[in-house]
Amino acid sequence: MSVLYGHLFPAYREYAELTDEARIDWLRRDRWISLPQAEAALRHLDDLVIYPPRGRMPCLLLFGSTGMGKTEIVNRFFKLHGPEFDTATGLSKMPVVLVQMPPEPSEEEFYTELLTALNCVELGRLSVRTMRAEARQLLAEVEIKVLVLDEIDKMLAGTPRQQRVFLNTIRFLTNDLKIPIVCAGTEDARMAVLTDPNLADRFGAFELTAWHNDHALRQLLASFSGLLPLRRLSQLDTAEARQRVLALTQGVTGRIFRLIEAAAVAAIRDGREMLNAESFDDDDLTLPLVSMYASASKRKTVGRRAP
Ligand SMILES: Nc1ncnc2c1ncn2[C@@H]1O[C@H](COP(=O)(O)OP(=O)(O)OP(=O)(O)O)[C@@H](O)[C@H]1O
Ligand SMILES: [Mg+2]
Repeated sequence: MSVLYGHLFPAYREYAELTDEARIDWLRRDRWISLPQAEAALRHLDDLVIYPPRGRMPCLLLFGSTGMGKTEIVNRFFKLHGPEFDTATGLSKMPVVLVQMPPEPSEEEFYTELLTALNCVELGRLSVRTMRAEARQLLAEVEIKVLVLDEIDKMLAGTPRQQRVFLNTIRFLTNDLKIPIVCAGTEDARMAVLTDPNLADRFGAFELTAWHNDHALRQLLASFSGLLPLRRLSQLDTAEARQRVLALTQGVTGRIFRLIEAAAVAAIRDGREMLNAESFDDDDLTLPLVSMYASASKRKTVGRRAP
């Protein structure tokens, strides 16, 4: 029966048989999709896991505009190297520890986030000094291999002094524990890290660049045609479809995913059951993308004006 949906990849054919509501629900769920740049970034990250301890550990800055998929990549990396419980010792190993930068970039808030990521719940009112010591001990106990800090842009909201303290903290952790640190953030965050000459020397950079009208975009759209639970063959492999997608999304991964999701939901609701260049003409689809872009630019302008 599944051969009915021969235009879909075999593993995805069964979803096309679901009811409209179930297919819409499926479309809206989070799922990792293998993308060339994301996979290349993951290979870099994987390489850091097996890096032997040495005097100066290599660190990595994963940077790109908002919505390019940095958080998706570091979450995936964390999942692939998830915590393991050792039944013999009763201890957990955490090869990768993932920390979101706190909104206020103080040392105290940072160590609170780090200790929370290490499942340390009873923080009470510990001094920064105690938290630092505790974090060092726990990171060594869980045999951490790579520490990942996401959204390091938040550092920019701090005073110049707070920023310096944060950069010193990163340096301290990588030197003291002899582990690579990965920082994910935007271009502005990259510039901030580079202001510290010691760190600039240690950090390699991996940039996630916007999609262009090239082979990679064709492949991405072809894979959407093969995995979206639509019952008819989509026609996304046309110059018009590619140009339309790029014009509406500026090649930002997150916006492309949202546009395709919205267009696929509309195709299920109106019974067209396929996507082509015309699917992206509907203003209702493009509205959320435009407002998302407008609010992101507004945030940026406000951020720049802040003292
Ligand atoms: N590999 C992927 N698989 C599936 N969805 C993805 C992937 N990469 C990006 N996305 C989609 O793009 C959206 C934005 O990605 P993400 O949140 O990782 O961006 P970001 O670079 O961290 O942005 P910000 O700088 O604002 O934090 C995600 O919510 C997801 O829908
Ligand atoms: Mg993010």
